[in-house]
Amino acid sequence: MIGIALPKGRLGEKVYSMLAGAGYGCDAYESGSRKLIFSDEQGGVKYFWVKPADVAVYVERGAADVGVAGKDVLEENNPDVYELADLGMGRCRMCVAAKSDWRDDTSRTLRVATKFVNVAKRYYAKLGRDIEIIKLNGSIELAPILGMSDVIVDIVETGTTLKENDLKVFAEIFQISARLIVNKASYKFKNAQISGLTQKLISEVKK
Ligand code: PRP
Repeated sequence: MIGIALPKGRLGEKVYSMLAGAGYGCDAYESGSRKLIFSDEQGGVKYFWVKPADVAVYVERGAADVGVAGKDVLEENNPDVYELADLGMGRCRMCVAAKSDWRDDTSRTLRVATKFVNVAKRYYAKLGRDIEIIKLNGSIELAPILGMSDVIVDIVETGTTLKENDLKVFAEIFQISARLIVNKASYKFKNAQISGLTQKLISEVKK
C-alpha cells in the first residue's frame, strides 16, 4: 500500500484527478465528501485529505509515504523529505508587496507582515536588511493598508487581491507550484512502487 497525503481543496481535487489518470484511482473516492481517508486495496493506494500546510508533516513523519505540497510550504518549513517532481499546477509567486505609493526608507527597520516568517527572514537576511516580522495568519494585505506594516511577503496568484486593495508587487522572491514529496524511508523501502507512481505522474504532467 502507498499512503498519499493530498492537500484539501481545489488543488487536491486536481491532483487526485491527475493520480486517477495515472492509474491510481480509488473506487471509494467521492468528490466533496467529508471523509478524511479513502483506500483502494486492489490498487494498493490509500489517500488522506490534510490541510495543505500539513502535508509535509505527514510525509516527514511517515504517516503518509508521499504527498503533494506547495513550494511555499516547503520553503517555509524545510521538511526532511525528498522532492520528486514538479506537478506544474497550483502556480503562483512569493512576492514582496506594498501600497502603490510606498517608498523604501533604508535607514529604518522594515516592518514585514507575513505568514511566511522563515521565507521573509531569509530573503531580507540575504539583502542585509534589518526587519521586524509581524506574523499574521491571513488577510495579510490589510497590514500595510492600516499602516501596521511597510510591506507584506505573501503569495500572489492572479494579482486580484493586491489590485483591489491598491497594493503592488515590489519584488518576486520565488515561483511556486505543487511538488510531489516522499518520505525518506519509504523512498528506500518502497522504491519500486514510488518510482512507478512518480514516472506515471510525470507522464500525466506532460500530457
Ligand atoms: C492567498 C494570498 C493572497 C491571495 C492571492 O490568500 O495570501 O491573499 O491568495 O491570490 P490572488 O493574487 O489571486 O488574489 P488566501 O486566499 O489563501 O487567504 P488568506 O488571506 O487566508 O491567506
